[in-house]
Amino acid sequence: MRYSSLVGRLHSEGVDGWATLFQAWQARERGEEVIILSIGDPDFATPEPIVESAVDALRGGDTHYAVIEGRRQLRAAIAADMTARTGLELDENNVLVAAGTQNALLAASLCLLETGDEVIGLDPMYLTYEGTLRSGGADLVRVPQTASSGFRPDQAAIEAAVTERTRAILITSPNNPTGVVLNRPELEGISAIAREHDLWVIADEVYSDLLFGVEHLSIAAMPGMAERTVTVSSLSKSHAMTGWRIGWAVGPAELIEHLGALQVNINYGVPGFVQEAALEAVTEQRMAWRPMRDAYQRRRDLAAAALSAAPELRVLVPEAGMYLLVDVSRVAESSRAFSHDLFASKRVSVVDAGAFGQSADGWIRISFTIGDDELAEGCKRIVDFVRGRNAPG
Ligand SMILES: Cc1ncc(COP(=O)(O)O)c(C=O)c1O
Repeated sequence: MRYSSLVGRLHSEGVDGWATLFQAWQARERGEEVIILSIGDPDFATPEPIVESAVDALRGGDTHYAVIEGRRQLRAAIAADMTARTGLELDENNVLVAAGTQNALLAASLCLLETGDEVIGLDPMYLTYEGTLRSGGADLVRVPQTASSGFRPDQAAIEAAVTERTRAILITSPNNPTGVVLNRPELEGISAIAREHDLWVIADEVYSDLLFGVEHLSIAAMPGMAERTVTVSSLSKSHAMTGWRIGWAVGPAELIEHLGALQVNINYGVPGFVQEAALEAVTEQRMAWRPMRDAYQRRRDLAAAALSAAPELRVLVPEAGMYLLVDVSRVAESSRAFSHDLFASKRVSVVDAGAFGQSADGWIRISFTIGDDELAEGCKRIVDFVRGRNAPG
């Protein structure tokens, strides 16, 4: 049977970056001992009061269709939070409640981009973006952020990538996998390009609560940007709610109306009891991320210190998030081979960061979504593995 041309565009390159994760899951199922440092799902439970809100809502009969663009109170609470971050005057008309950042990004791509349009994305970037953007027919143009610059954006390179077909720039701050948080001059530089070429900016801020002593700025708050920016985010990382599938898009009211109309056709909105849980999260439990952030920061420092025992490895200390990049280019022919061999010999699963884009080839990504002791043991095995490789003979 025939399929539409869409099916050929759904996949992103590099999905086999997760090869060792799938192997590790299978090994664990067989009862083998493995250490998984390759997953981006918090190891914390969703805070209890959030769970209780959902349970109360379920027991109270909140099991029917919910308002498709999201309940007014929740949208207003998300708008108030974004107002506090940006100083912009936002209300519920600027917010669409969506099934996670991923869904918000898909909706935005479909409403902003035509077949053949180009989106500039800063490489390395979250793995599924390419498939998401391409679903609507747009092309992703990757602009490298080089390892030698600490994976920071290069304004001249972004500007040089703009063509007649460019319609949008996609940024993620804090970034996955690099943990880089874009600073004011960088955001101003990107904003200037967007204004000059009349581009949209799609900004993923899903890690913006998990900061390690740096400030987070939203590009929407830069002059002349509110009308051309759609900010997507969720509670997945900040409140350990990956499985709830709830997030949002914040942007100009007209765009939000279009996203709502699209959502009627995609999933008919997010379940009411999930929205009630989200309301608890963005109001009473707004700061619930704090102990988790503190744990991630402690684990970052623990991992960086443990890995420093192998001087051949270079660690990029992240400014935010749940991951740490390690340069393995001095000890392996490729990061892919390193990940493979590491799992085969030490039963530690990491991600080949080259899966996020060529700029991160030669690096691996380690997640801190695991207890301190296991993380320490995982890092020790990586160091042993590197030492073993360098041993004479
Ligand atoms: C940068 C980035 N954006 C989006 C997502 C997915 O978020 P959500 O669960 O809100 O769809 C992830 C998950 O790892 C991510 O790293």
